[in-house]
Amino acid sequence: MKQQNRKEDEAHRKEMQPVYADQAATSFPKAPGVVEAMVHYLKDVGANVNRGSYESASEAEECLFDTRQMLTELFSGGDPRNTVFTPNITSSLNMILKGFLRPGDHVLTSSMEHNAVMRPLQQLKKSIGISFDRIPARRDGTLCLEEAEGLLRPETRLLVSTHASNVCGTLMPIQELGLFCERHGLFFAVDSAQTAGAIPLDLSACRIDACAFTGHKGLLGPQGVGGFLLSERMVPLMEPLISGGTGSISHTEEIPAFMPDRFEPGTLNLPGIYGLKAALTFLQSVSLSEIRKKEMELTECFLKEALEIPGLILYGKKDIEDRVSVIALNLEGMDPAYLADELDQRYGIRTRVGLHCAPAAHRSLGTYPEGCVRFSFGYFNSEEEVLRCSAALRQIAGERS
Ligand code: ALA
Repeated sequence: MKQQNRKEDEAHRKEMQPVYADQAATSFPKAPGVVEAMVHYLKDVGANVNRGSYESASEAEECLFDTRQMLTELFSGGDPRNTVFTPNITSSLNMILKGFLRPGDHVLTSSMEHNAVMRPLQQLKKSIGISFDRIPARRDGTLCLEEAEGLLRPETRLLVSTHASNVCGTLMPIQELGLFCERHGLFFAVDSAQTAGAIPLDLSACRIDACAFTGHKGLLGPQGVGGFLLSERMVPLMEPLISGGTGSISHTEEIPAFMPDRFEPGTLNLPGIYGLKAALTFLQSVSLSEIRKKEMELTECFLKEALEIPGLILYGKKDIEDRVSVIALNLEGMDPAYLADELDQRYGIRTRVGLHCAPAAHRSLGTYPEGCVRFSFGYFNSEEEVLRCSAALRQIAGERS
């Protein structure tokens, strides 16, 4: 019976569109206009910025200026010069952590972090002798904020937290963490990989000193462009991780003291920045509240169906409060890698399986070391696709009973 199902499903699969349910890894499709903007830069503009003053260079500079401005507004940042472009959010987090932390510093972090935070912290622990403690999380991924105070030390200088878990989608209490930092005189850094473009993040209201972002997930832009925003008080405390030509003050071999040049040596990813500007323009036209509404409708629809499937184990929150559209699950007694393969091979459903570069988060959720299957939906997914995902899970679960 099962073999028969499998053959029929595989034949059926060839006829239907795949369901892309891996938006947390990178969004797809990209926002309308992204590809065209990138092609326009590569075909019609082509000039570098900060190097020439001819017409095409000025056009590229205007796009760079606009994109920096739009990002600053999106995050309610301060001076747009404190919004810095990098190749990706991992680079951003490395630049923030390695640029700010000094020997002997102590750091607080959440127990739900991605390795983009944990590996730099582990590296700094070995290389310059920082130390860190993790604020525990409950089994649904929510943070035990009440335990944070007991972890403070006189040398605690920074708190770094993700805004939402990339494994189970649970939101961290960013506003409360900001207040905690203010109360205890800490600097506050946030990883917005899973929330930028999906949920508004107000840097000044949340007292955030450094916010790392990526262009290719919820911002619906291309890969290869990310960045970070700094508060005014954070800027003078950060050392640049890399240095080189900026096109400014070329008479000196010293790193520029001014922003953003201090942290933007080398040629920027201009095709990526053109693409990101088009994506941000699209986000503005739709509005983050519409995007949030659609993503939560899809999540609610999926959760409602999934929670009724016998043997399905859902990790993280079981409702749509305080979460993004990232959902972690397993089927009882089934290897998650097998489940993800069945979903792909028989139903054309694309998910991410394993530990999601976040062993700490999986330890908190109780899914280490076997991991789980992660579904993540975005603005361009449809309810029909979500229902195809839950129907496939139901069928696979049914075959095992
Ligand atoms: N960090 C990305 C993910 O969670 C790539 O899949």
